[in-house]
Amino acid sequence: MTANTRRTWISWAALAALGATLAQPGWAQDSTFKVGLILPMTGQQASTGRQVEAAARLYIAQHGDTVAGKKIELIVKDDTGLPDVSRRLAQELVIKDKVGVLAGFGLTPLALAVAPVATQSKTPLLVMAAATSSITEASPYVLRTSFTLPQAAVVIADWAPKNGIKKVVSLVSDYGPGVDAEKFFSEQFKKNGGEVVESLRVPLRNPDFAPFLQKVRDAKPDALFVFVPSGAGAAIMKQFVERGMDKAGIKLIGTGDLTDDDQLNDMGDGALGVVTAHHYSAYHPSDLNRQFVEAFKKANNNLRPNFMAVGGYDGMHAIYEALKASKGEGSDALLKGFKGLSFESPRGTVTIDPETRDVVHDVYLRKVERKDGQLYNVEFDVVKAVKDPGKAPK
Ligand code: DHB
Repeated sequence: MTANTRRTWISWAALAALGATLAQPGWAQDSTFKVGLILPMTGQQASTGRQVEAAARLYIAQHGDTVAGKKIELIVKDDTGLPDVSRRLAQELVIKDKVGVLAGFGLTPLALAVAPVATQSKTPLLVMAAATSSITEASPYVLRTSFTLPQAAVVIADWAPKNGIKKVVSLVSDYGPGVDAEKFFSEQFKKNGGEVVESLRVPLRNPDFAPFLQKVRDAKPDALFVFVPSGAGAAIMKQFVERGMDKAGIKLIGTGDLTDDDQLNDMGDGALGVVTAHHYSAYHPSDLNRQFVEAFKKANNNLRPNFMAVGGYDGMHAIYEALKASKGEGSDALLKGFKGLSFESPRGTVTIDPETRDVVHDVYLRKVERKDGQLYNVEFDVVKAVKDPGKAPK
């Protein structure tokens, strides 16, 4: 056994022992409940970390820091977007800090790296950002308040052919959520009589879209369907417009990650008219959302909340409700408290499916428009209570 494998083995043994301890009644006598928030606070996905953390802190500020007799303590750790770091941080949070829930997870590989830690230690793992369908199947302790790519991809694939788009090229980031978006978009689009003439995959890290966009231009589709993760939308939008693709008659459609509220207002007029499907727009016309957007901006130097923020805000809401339901108990009692929760969110009604532990929510069709001098995703249609199409029917 090398020192390294021994260390790994020891931490796994400690996790298993801790799992047994946490499952005992009496653990709840501790008067603090710790939330371990693991997020990319630096690196390419830093905007996700900033949005989720700010929203979680806002929820606590608005709703008090005592729940079921326990004081909520938020511990934020920067995983820099690297799965090995996420896993090590999760092990430390569970063993040393004795957190009651692991939360955050800005990219799919980061959530997947931590799922075994949740299983071993019987700690609920709440995904507030990542969105590959299969993440909830990586451990029976995983729950989600973000979204899944299939939820959004199927809705835009139903809309497009009814609106003059018959021939499409798809372009996605080459990892879990991109593969989901490509598959669920193209299957549904073909079912609706559409044709996907080319499926392009671009690297997740520092992509250069130019050679891919040249291929799109040559294929002359009615539209380009895009999935890129939060933070990457502005770059592809810029290159799309610079190459005159819109002028050449190619429309841009996608999941709402493309017209991310964190960047949308700086994308310029080239973004006007882009139609996407997603579960959250900062322009969503409800009182609860208006209050949320206003409070979020006030607390964060006028930063506009995006769909990552609403995942974090609803995630804290879910933690509060689950903890009330478990009367302050952690582990399996807390897990049970999450299942079947349903509440009003700035996005609309959110439910945690008790069978799949995945989020169920409304998916909106939105078009980028200028409102009050700013660019927004303006909702014009909705599909209610969308379950993740990626889960096999039971
Ligand atoms: C994922 C990350 C994103 O930023 C996004 O918008 C969608 C999915 C992910 O890695 O799961």
